[in-house]
Amino acid sequence: MGYLVEDTRKVTTHRLIQMKQEGKKIAMLTSYDYTTAQIVDAAGMDIILVGDSASNVMAGNVTTLPITLDQMIYHAKAVVRATKRALVVCDMPFGTYQVNPTEGVTNAIRIMKESHCDALKLEGGVEIIDTVKKILDAGIPVCGHLGLTPQSINKFGTYTVRAREQAEAAKLVSDAHALEDAGCFAIVLEKIPAALAARVTSELRIPVIGIGAGGACDGQVLVVADMLGMSQGFSPKFLRRYADLHSIMTEAIGHYIPDVKSGDFPNENEQY
Ligand code: KIV
Repeated sequence: MGYLVEDTRKVTTHRLIQMKQEGKKIAMLTSYDYTTAQIVDAAGMDIILVGDSASNVMAGNVTTLPITLDQMIYHAKAVVRATKRALVVCDMPFGTYQVNPTEGVTNAIRIMKESHCDALKLEGGVEIIDTVKKILDAGIPVCGHLGLTPQSINKFGTYTVRAREQAEAAKLVSDAHALEDAGCFAIVLEKIPAALAARVTSELRIPVIGIGAGGACDGQVLVVADMLGMSQGFSPKFLRRYADLHSIMTEAIGHYIPDVKSGDFPNENEQY
């Protein structure tokens, strides 16, 4: 399948900042495997995120916390093999960058060396800024992630909208500036009031990508299994479902089983 966008040049962090300056919106979607990433990339996605949501989507964990560095590298390698155009960003998993900057940069280098992805994403603001700077000093592009940061779910105790209170909103704004000043190429804002995301988007020079953060952001990101309607029982207000793959797959599989059991499959043309 050919690209659905005309510009087939590889997307770079530099291009993303240009897109913000030109008022062009940025499309970002997760992928965790080769087959899906091929489809997502060929459709013309700007950024593919190898999110640690792989922990939920691919492994069935309740949170993103259990996924390991090795598992993230495995997913990122598969996505990179499939991707020609999109910028591939890989999440640093929980526990691989919070201990100290040296451990953070060591793990960051490992992900880059082994997966060949283009950039990394880390959750948090000033509390991880020294680690972010050290990773940037190693020549690795970093995307920040503020607002609802799922690796801190046990501290929050809830997946509800973040930064509704003035103090948390003020911290988020100063964290966003700190990440930009450190040299991040973009920031993801998750599940915060649209007006706050609009303020951050207008104050920063780097692109702000929203998920549940309203339409004023420079771009949007969703989890691929959610927007394709594969996942069940997860329907936050911000999620738009573009397909009902759960029904399509269930119907197809529901045909296959009786075809096998009745001897209808394979027929004469489906054998050697
Ligand atoms: O892991 C992930 O999928 C993410 C997105 C929700 C932004 O971090």
